[in-house]
Amino acid sequence: MKLTYYGHSCFLVETGGKRLLFDPFVSGNPLATGLDVNAIRCDYIFPTHAHRDHIGDLETVARNNPEALIVGIWEISTYYSSKGLRTHPMNKGGWWAFDFGRVKMVQAVHSSVFPDGTPGGEPAGFVIDSPDGVLYVAGDTALTMDMQLIPMTCPTLDAAILPVGSNFTMDYADALIASDFIRCDRIIGCHYDTFGFIKIDHKEAVSTFAESRKELILMDLGETLEL
Ligand code: NI
Ligand code: MN
Repeated sequence: MKLTYYGHSCFLVETGGKRLLFDPFVSGNPLATGLDVNAIRCDYIFPTHAHRDHIGDLETVARNNPEALIVGIWEISTYYSSKGLRTHPMNKGGWWAFDFGRVKMVQAVHSSVFPDGTPGGEPAGFVIDSPDGVLYVAGDTALTMDMQLIPMTCPTLDAAILPVGSNFTMDYADALIASDFIRCDRIIGCHYDTFGFIKIDHKEAVSTFAESRKELILMDLGETLEL
């Protein structure tokens, strides 16, 4: 499993021979000016919820990749299928087997509305269970007891992408507790630094995890990580 960071909460996951893009938001990210959203190639797009900083470039990427399948909660799926894009609807608790592996949609505690005011249903996270790794992508969420259900209902996680920026989501102290709940010691941080509200002290965040013998990875823009 290969992970590439496009800033904020946007990750490309290469697994099972497919390219999975999470939360496409690049062109509106003041920190990602060096990245070209039109260069992104993917087979799947996974929006965790409908806020602009997660779907801002979704239509651009989908039109550049006409074969790509958008996998989102029912309301997000319906929104994009009405625009003529390819979608697969899911809802929380369900698994679906795709050609790269299985996906479970899981709980997230946040809100969700499209920039044009259309309700986005509820926010969600995803667990990707593929032959070359198991990854939890939390999306925007508070720390929630429901995270404890993940190790009870999913294979052992190899890594998890958790928000750590506070204000709109949990902070890194809560993400450390989340890592206990999901029984995963390898955490990749997201949703930090992009705007003034979510600036974090990288050193302090990383050492908070290290003190508990856990790993918090804060990837550089464009950096690729092999899991
Ligand atoms: Ni959000
Ligand atoms: Mn967000």
